[in-house]
Amino acid sequence: AGKRPLQGLCVMITAGPTREAIDPVRYLSNHSSGKMGYALAQAAVEAGAKVTLVSGPVSLDAPLGCERVLIQTAQQMHNAVTERIAKTDIFIGCAAVSDYRPSLCEEQKIKKTDKDKLTLTLVKNPDILGDVAALSHPPFTLGFAAETQQVKQYAQHKLVNKKLDMIAANDVSKQNIGFNSDMNALNVYWATGETSLPITDKLNLARQLLELVAAKYKEK
Ligand code: C5P
Repeated sequence: AGKRPLQGLCVMITAGPTREAIDPVRYLSNHSSGKMGYALAQAAVEAGAKVTLVSGPVSLDAPLGCERVLIQTAQQMHNAVTERIAKTDIFIGCAAVSDYRPSLCEEQKIKKTDKDKLTLTLVKNPDILGDVAALSHPPFTLGFAAETQQVKQYAQHKLVNKKLDMIAANDVSKQNIGFNSDMNALNVYWATGETSLPITDKLNLARQLLELVAAKYKEK
C-alpha cells in the first residue's frame, strides 16, 4: 500500500443529489450534501489518483487537483459518466441519484387550480452505477447503500444484483451520521468479506475506505 496507494490510477466519483425538473421553476431532489463524495475525491487525490468528480448541485468547492463535471439531472450524470468511463480504473457511485423523474417537464409553470389533487407521473431514471458495472470491461466498482433497516441484507443484495466489487452501507436511521452530517460510519461488504469503519469525520472515513478499495483493486 504505502502512502499513495492509488498512484497513477484513474478514479471517477459521482456525488451529491440530482435535480429533476417538474416545470421551469420546480424540481424533485433530495437532501444529499455531497460531503462524502467530495471527501472521497479529496482522499483519492491525496492517494495519487487522477480524479474525475461528477457532481450534482452542492454548496462545496471542488477539491484541489480533481476535475469536476457539474450536472443537474440523472440523465446528465449518466451521460457525463458514460462519456468519460473508458480509462477509469475505479468507479465510486456516491451520488444520491433520483430514482425517478417527471415523465415530462412542463414548458410553462404549472398553475394552481381549484382542484385539490394534482398528479405527477414519474418514470425511472437510468441506474448509473449499475450500467457501469454491467460494461463488458468494467472498472472496479464501489457503490453506496443508504438504508434505514436490515442494512446488511439490503447492502449485500445490492452488491450481487448490481454486480459490484464492493458496497459501503450507512444506516441513515441513526442521527448524527449520514446525510448532511460531517460524520459517518460505514459497513463495507465485498464478495468474500466485510468490515466496519466506525464513526469518524468523512475525510478520515474516505481515506480508510480508499485504502480498502486499493487493496481489493490490486487483488482483482
Ligand atoms: O439501488 P440504490 O439506489 O439503493 O443504489 C445506491 C447506489 O447506486 C449508490 O451507489 C448510488 O450512487 C447508485 N445509483 C446510481 N444511479 C441510480 C441510482 C443509484 O448510480 N439511478
